[in-house]
Amino acid sequence: MAGTGIFTEILDGEVYKYYSDGEWRTSSSGKSVAIVNPATRKTQYKVQACTQEEVNKVMEMAKSAQKSWAKTPLWKRAELLHKAAAILKDNKAPIAESLVKEIAKPAKDSVTEVVRSGDLISYCAEEGVRILGEGKFLLSDSFPGNERTKYCLTSKIPLGVVLAIPPFNYPVNLAVSKIAPALIAGNSLVLKPPTQGAVSCLHMVYCFHLAGFPKGLISCITGKGSEIGDFLTMHPAVNCISFTGGDTGISISKKAGMIPLQMELGGKDACIVLEDADLDLVASNIIKGGFSYSGQRCTAVKVVLVIESVADELVEKVKAKVAKLTVGPPEENCDITAVVSESSANFIEGLVMDAKEKGATFCQEYKREGNLIWPLLLDNVRPDMRIAWEEPFGPVLPVLRISSVEEGINHCNASNFGLQGCVFTKDINKAMLISDAMETGTVQINSAPARGPDHFPFQGLKDSGIGSQGVTNSINLMTKVKTTVINLPTPSYSMG
Ligand code: G3H
Repeated sequence: MAGTGIFTEILDGEVYKYYSDGEWRTSSSGKSVAIVNPATRKTQYKVQACTQEEVNKVMEMAKSAQKSWAKTPLWKRAELLHKAAAILKDNKAPIAESLVKEIAKPAKDSVTEVVRSGDLISYCAEEGVRILGEGKFLLSDSFPGNERTKYCLTSKIPLGVVLAIPPFNYPVNLAVSKIAPALIAGNSLVLKPPTQGAVSCLHMVYCFHLAGFPKGLISCITGKGSEIGDFLTMHPAVNCISFTGGDTGISISKKAGMIPLQMELGGKDACIVLEDADLDLVASNIIKGGFSYSGQRCTAVKVVLVIESVADELVEKVKAKVAKLTVGPPEENCDITAVVSESSANFIEGLVMDAKEKGATFCQEYKREGNLIWPLLLDNVRPDMRIAWEEPFGPVLPVLRISSVEEGINHCNASNFGLQGCVFTKDINKAMLISDAMETGTVQINSAPARGPDHFPFQGLKDSGIGSQGVTNSINLMTKVKTTVINLPTPSYSMG
């Protein structure tokens, strides 16, 4: 159970402690933040409401711990990461349990998230050892006007303190996707978990604590965004921000100083379906892509753009599969579970009502109980409906019928988002042309959008983000290039 067994130390009465300077602490604020279980709508957990002074302390420790961490051999950093990964995987059950209770992720998927996170940490340790152990050697005489008098050596050095802010939908996985690259590259790490997901994050951080990382190198500070959010993101000690979430990222980017930013801020991933597509394959991918974790994924299929001639057949196939989705508690592994909060459910309902008023075809009856919304396919959606453009982050999927591929591409490119998209066709030549025309960070051919495998590059265009993720790109983003130039008094050429 969460907060028991090896995790007893992180709980103070009924409030989870925060992590600073290698110790589990209770905030001097005397206040806590309640985490509401999305399914029961009752308070499930409480975490510390940390103060700005506590943020200052964490930053001070992070700055000083980073200096010695940067001098720790790469193989030793990797060894500790492998250890943390193993501890995390060994404790998947209590961590998955808190995911179920805090974010209503189905039990099976919660376990998968923890295991995937352990694998990501290990992969990152291995990749770091490879790519950070190599640099470049350049010779001056390749540039016009130069003799071979300069030898340039490049290596990658850490940025300093990395601030990681993961979202509620993958609080563990999208935290470690920031923590592991930061640490292997020699940075220190301050984690600000989302409110829903904070307890899962604290358990995950405890696994790093048990692995034996130096004091102050990793911290986890909980609290209200309104009190410590801006203070954290504008803190002068922060040298890099890695954020996943909504459009808060846009305001963070406007306020952050001259530091590297890695941001993923959502998407409206289009699924373009051509006449020659395998419609059974498309239907399965629409179900997986549109309704996994109740549509609460940045990479969910969020609009289907289907050629009119095959639209009826596709909609029938998807409808038949929607009818088989189970709806209910995450503990029972239902496909569709409560969305994260009442405000999120209200927002989704607003989009549904707008589509209803404007004449969309409801393939199922709209049904909602509390935060639980039954899966809904909306056919004959038109561009004047909000659902054609906005991200519901819920189990509601619009279908727009198109008369040409160009119409589909134009709809996709008119979005302010540009995360991923997908195209279904048996013609690889057409697929490549469409992929090149779609203004998104990734295009999947004959499969639903997805971030993984976690070593693949993952990036959004336009309002979907800045910088690229994936293990290798994250390590690179969290380092800077350092060069040393050896100047020779006379040209020196190596002879054969
Ligand atoms: O929600 C945003 C995530 O980056 C999506 O990850 O494609 O593995 O579900 P996923």
